[in-house]
Amino acid sequence: MAQIYDSIAEQFKKFYSLPFALHVETYTHLNLIGDVTGKSILDLACGEGIYTRLLKQNGAARLVGVDISSEMIKLARQEEEKEPLEIEYIIADVTEIGFIDSFDLVVASFLLNYASTKDELLKMCHTISANLKPGGQFISLNNNLDLPPEFYHKGEKYGLAKSCPGSLQEGTPLTLTLTIADDGEKVSFDNYYLSKATYEWALRSVGFKDIRWHNPIVSPEGVQKFSQEFWQDAIDYPYILGITCQK
Ligand SMILES: C[S@@+](CC[C@H](N)C(=O)[O-])C[C@H]1O[C@@H](n2cnc3c(N)ncnc32)[C@H](O)[C@@H]1O
Repeated sequence: MAQIYDSIAEQFKKFYSLPFALHVETYTHLNLIGDVTGKSILDLACGEGIYTRLLKQNGAARLVGVDISSEMIKLARQEEEKEPLEIEYIIADVTEIGFIDSFDLVVASFLLNYASTKDELLKMCHTISANLKPGGQFISLNNNLDLPPEFYHKGEKYGLAKSCPGSLQEGTPLTLTLTIADDGEKVSFDNYYLSKATYEWALRSVGFKDIRWHNPIVSPEGVQKFSQEFWQDAIDYPYILGITCQK
């Protein structure tokens, strides 16, 4: 896993300029997170730190970012050097890191879909729970595992392609290919299918309650710029889902 992101770290940054990333993904994520003023936040699978920085800039008191890829963390630290926000970055595997501190909020966008087994998912959930204060919230975005493969092509007009070998079974690899530039440049990586029931089992097993799944939403600016019709497939065949729950 680390090696995949080490080799695409620089390229992956381009994804965040895509209309889908700006008007659906980031907008949905920040809406779910809400007001962060004064909060301590752990960002697991922070990548090069795009959300980590945004949350600190939006008023969070403390931010710690963790990622398994040393190249992703190198990019995050470079940004921290350019514009210091007092964010701490740690290179580590979420399944192994254990307790760092007690945070008000743990975010982990697109972490859980890297678990290929129930056991791996449970370990990730253990780390999330171990780092939350009682009553703290976990908020995440995830590949929408419920989307039937016959609708995968609906993401293509947003630069999001997905494929799987045959039917979806627990642990089936899903290959995601993102078109990240107008010249057709692409990056590919694998996620894994585990059912929603398995996710809910893992979250409940480590003490989470009030587990909710959220459909993505489109920013008003995105609708104005590209039209409601353009985004309708992103709403009707969600490529991503939000997850929220409470310790
Ligand atoms: C698609 S990127 C998401 C980055 C950022 N959270 C975002 O939403 O833009 C997925 C990140 O998960 C990291 N990752 C995957 N498995 C991990 C693990 N077991 N421990 C820590 N990071 C992991 C990868 O290195 C990569 O940076």
